[in-house]
Amino acid sequence: MATAPELLTPELVIRPMRALDVAEVVAIERAAYQFPWSEGIFRDCLRVGYVCRVVAASRRLFAYGVMSFGAGEAHILNLCVDGPWRERGVGKQLLASLLERATAAGMTEAFLEVRPSNTAAIRLYQSAGFEQVGMRRGYYQAAGGREDAAVLRRALPASGVPAT
Ligand SMILES: CC(C)(COP(=O)(O)OP(=O)(O)OC[C@H]1O[C@@H](n2cnc3c(N)ncnc32)[C@H](O)[C@@H]1OP(=O)(O)O)[C@@H](O)C(=O)NCCC(=O)NCCS
Repeated sequence: MATAPELLTPELVIRPMRALDVAEVVAIERAAYQFPWSEGIFRDCLRVGYVCRVVAASRRLFAYGVMSFGAGEAHILNLCVDGPWRERGVGKQLLASLLERATAAGMTEAFLEVRPSNTAAIRLYQSAGFEQVGMRRGYYQAAGGREDAAVLRRALPASGVPAT
């Protein structure tokens, strides 16, 4: 099903990620994370039909998010804003858009993992209503070995659309 782009500002829209976007997404990913996803992971996410969105202007990308659905639950797998565009509300709007999409698809809860050291992301998720419900020990690669992941959850409003 085609998804109409959402207008973020007159210049920025949130639209589905395309295969042609992947090189640019990977460049942002590599600059953002010490242990980035590979190009192949993004291509697999597109291939299996995960919800993959980008924040874009006509000539470049500013942010992206990836989300999967299963058993009534949305799982936010990646959310990233290009460095110079952070702290301007882009991440918050992209997250809200993903959660709206999950609600429209009939999901009742959203989950994600985040490094406890990632203050910016934790602040973003808390401001969007997520609360910590658990901890996965040694979940992430880290410079000195492994780092735990905090598991965050929030309920989604009923959409009236049954989950498929
Ligand atoms: C986490 C990230 C997506 C936030 O995106 P952003 O566009 O900068 O966030 P926003 O400007 O929309 O801010 C959202 C909220 O987070 C807060 N926030 C954002 N960056 C912050 C920072 N560096 N320190 C503290 N709070 C911060 C904002 O103040 C805002 O809070 P509010 O809603 O209470 O006003 C961005 O920092 C990023 O891409 N980081 C690298 C990738 C990453 O770590 N992704 C998360 C993986 S789980």
